Amino acid sequence: MTIGGERRTCYCGEVRPAHIGQQIVLKGWVHRRRDHGGVIFVDLRDRTGLCQVVFNPENLSADVFEQASRLKDEFVLAVRGTVRERPEGTLNPNLPTGAIEALVSEFDILNFCQPMPFKLDEYTTVNEEQRLIYRFLDLRRPEMQRNFFMRHKFYQVVRAYLSGQGFLEFTTPVLSNSTPEGARDFLVPSRLNPGTFFALPQSPQLFKQLLMVAGYDKYYQIATCFRDEDLRANRQPEFAQIDIEASFVTPEDIFAAMEGLIVRIWKECLGMDVPTTFQRIPYPEAMLKYGSDKPDLRFDLPITEMTDFFADTQIKVFAQISANRGRIRALRVPGGAVFSRKQLDDYTSFAGIYGAKGLAWFKVLETELQSPLAKFLSPEQIGELKQRTGAQAGDIIFVVADREKIVCDSLGQLRLKIAADMNLIPEGSFSFAWIVDFPMFEYAERDKVYTPSHHPFTSPMAEDVHLLDEYAADPSKWNTGHPDDNPLRRVHALAYDLAVNGEELGGGSIRIHRRDIQNKVFRAIGIDEEAARTKFGFLLDALSYGAPPHGGIAFGVDRMLMLLLGGKSIREVIAFPKTQSGSDLMLDAPSAVDDAQLKELFIRVDLPSER
Ligand code: AMO
Ligand code: AMP
Repeated sequence: MTIGGERRTCYCGEVRPAHIGQQIVLKGWVHRRRDHGGVIFVDLRDRTGLCQVVFNPENLSADVFEQASRLKDEFVLAVRGTVRERPEGTLNPNLPTGAIEALVSEFDILNFCQPMPFKLDEYTTVNEEQRLIYRFLDLRRPEMQRNFFMRHKFYQVVRAYLSGQGFLEFTTPVLSNSTPEGARDFLVPSRLNPGTFFALPQSPQLFKQLLMVAGYDKYYQIATCFRDEDLRANRQPEFAQIDIEASFVTPEDIFAAMEGLIVRIWKECLGMDVPTTFQRIPYPEAMLKYGSDKPDLRFDLPITEMTDFFADTQIKVFAQISANRGRIRALRVPGGAVFSRKQLDDYTSFAGIYGAKGLAWFKVLETELQSPLAKFLSPEQIGELKQRTGAQAGDIIFVVADREKIVCDSLGQLRLKIAADMNLIPEGSFSFAWIVDFPMFEYAERDKVYTPSHHPFTSPMAEDVHLLDEYAADPSKWNTGHPDDNPLRRVHALAYDLAVNGEELGGGSIRIHRRDIQNKVFRAIGIDEEAARTKFGFLLDALSYGAPPHGGIAFGVDRMLMLLLGGKSIREVIAFPKTQSGSDLMLDAPSAVDDAQLKELFIRVDLPSER
């Protein structure tokens, strides 16, 4: 048999009734095998789909049929056969090839396959560890292949659109220096310069800015970024960004170009029309109404500010928290008056995960307010509570009082949980919003310092630059114990994020293009002149050689694909992803290396002895 050497005439998934009567050659894997009264049916699979091929003892010599009877799952075959209509009653309308089958006249086994560690069609029941150890098998699944066809298409659409808009594609170094995006660096020791290390880029941020200084005007790259941070379902230590930068632009220019990109991606990848402009929500409004800077806007359930209201009530804890500059906010849930005691307890523990010390609730009934705290409210106050939260009979009002961050986190997360529990989230819909007017710095509780909310190259708003000077004039003056007093708290950044369905899809900013401002920002975050020169001398130099005003954005490719494909984890759209603990189970990486390799690098490993 020599058919294995012949070229295939078409892919398995492409055989159609138009082929009836023709002889075809297919190559692929045994996806499924069924024996029916001496006749063997095999679903032959390749990346385009399945085609049923039939081994009939009446057509084949005894020894050839004997071979066919020994076929097992995932054997690799070359098959020659004649296409015919499937007999009445055996049509499969769910399969594009379901109206035909190929009657085999000749075949070759191109390779054998050991018993599989898991069945390819039992998609949901196989544990992920097995899938990752045998990723090359897992990737054979039609579901996974669909994801990577989409990923390919996505790349083509992005490249065509950005190139069409005049963006130039670049490649920037992977062996680089620390590029601060808020995570730890992955380090690579240099053999040629013993004792020194490269860092893998957390993003190409500084390279793209230097390309603007170099006059390229519009840059893009589909860039791999490396961040040593704690992983979650939507985070990987290496991931891809669509990275973009342009000169002489305002945020609105970036928004318009990127809205065009998103519209194109959704149209071409999903055939879906999304709005051509996205709403803009100022950061303080997003935090207040949704408790998050990446709000899920597919449903309503807004949060209401009620600090002033509760400060004036007889509820002592609330008055106290308000006096201590805390916040008190309410989440009204239409129809929530039916929640049982157990549900209320569960929601209280849930809010507790995010730091809430309690979850007060008020059920709005026809004639009264039902709550352990109702007795502390006057009839007028009950009226005002209902009016300000918009609550009607049948609703429940949840209240959290605490530091602002805890109020936002706990009510924001509760909002998401209740929406999921009450089925308020429309499947298959997308709700995009630009979040704007970000604070320039955020207070890091643990280290008691202000750090950049975005990255230190983001431009403050021009009207806030004086606050940097006010701070720098006497930094120690602001150690008042109330970080809110610090003028850094009031600096706004020309930064923006794109939020979709509760995910942060991308973020960017207008950059600092003046050396004096860059120095002020470095100083504000505790990088003095000398440290700035050592770490970012090249950037400060570049800014003093005619740097144009510029800005940009980066989107998470893996997150976007996860959204497009309706998945829950970015691991489903990454061919060879890492686990939560940052390892590759298939490669068994990271792994120990030879002493000889370490010696060459002058590196000694010094692990703490165990206990
Ligand atoms: P930022 O750090 O916000 O911005 O990253 C941009 C987008 O990248 C995605 N992303 C990730 N995806 C998967 N795994 C991760 N660990 C991960 N971290 C980030 C997110 C995020 O919105 N240089 C700036 C961009 C700029 O200012 O132009 C930057 O990297 O979707
Ligand atoms: P207590 O007086 O501690 O029994 O609390 C009365 C109600 O107020 C309970 O429903 C608590 O869950 C709620 N509560 C207490 N502290 C807070 C807080 N910081 N925020 C919201 N509700 C609270």
